[in-house]
Amino acid sequence: MAVLTLNNVSKTYLLENRQVSALTNINLTVDSGQFVTFVGRSGCGKTTLLRIIAGLEQKTCGQITFQPTEAKIGLVFQEPRLMPWLTVENNMAFALQQEPDREYVKATVDHYLKLLRLEDFRHAYPSEISGGMAQRTALGRALCYNPDIILMDEPLGALDAFTRATLQKELTQIFQEAHKTILFVTHDVDEAVLLGERIVVMGGGQICNELAVPLTYPRIAASKEFYNIRSQVLAAIMEEP
Ligand SMILES: Nc1ncnc2c1ncn2[C@@H]1O[C@H](COP(=O)(O)OP(=O)(O)O)[C@@H](O)[C@H]1O
Ligand SMILES: [Mg+2]
Repeated sequence: MAVLTLNNVSKTYLLENRQVSALTNINLTVDSGQFVTFVGRSGCGKTTLLRIIAGLEQKTCGQITFQPTEAKIGLVFQEPRLMPWLTVENNMAFALQQEPDREYVKATVDHYLKLLRLEDFRHAYPSEISGGMAQRTALGRALCYNPDIILMDEPLGALDAFTRATLQKELTQIFQEAHKTILFVTHDVDEAVLLGERIVVMGGGQICNELAVPLTYPRIAASKEFYNIRSQVLAAIMEEP
């Protein structure tokens, strides 16, 4: 079932009386429960695409359809953007402020604290935890909201290589356990192939290729199949318009 459909979506920014075309005729259908990675060079329009889907930016033309119509969207950015005055658990519960059933809130937060291995840090403040934990907390906040779609814009980009590799692995485990629809933006080809069931290659504000990744998780970056898909993605990026 399609949870998100984009028809001929374009975006032009106005910059000092100049028109900057960020996206041109984007057509995309995402099925419920899919993990889609978007990869491309810096400036190819990845962030703009996510911001338009999130409703943070207006599209210039085209249609976007959600199913359900009032789809809930969770966001995770490169920086965790946590409230410094709230503990890890209260940052996660923040998305459920309006929820009257406090037992449900507690059970949900407990569930994701466990899934994200943050139980021992539930009372810690953002200044007391590592970058990886802060990003886990941001992911937990998005998951607690029980979104229909999670949008992630280079969420592991600011982490060191080891923390990043750990979180990549955990993210596929969380995806398999939580069955969420995830749209994940990265400029890292390996990361796109490690995580996505489907890779959308972008270039110059357009979708220039799409690949399915028929590999089970966890994926082995040294495998022949992985290498083949990685080569195809790289070739698509090099050939971009
Ligand atoms: N707020 C803005 N105003 C003007 N131009 C912008 C703005 N945001 C992005 N752009 C331009 O749109 C293009 C795509 O940017 P972006 O979506 O951030 O790419 P990516 O995330 O792939 O690096 C770039 O040419 C960028 O300079
Ligand atoms: Mg970006």
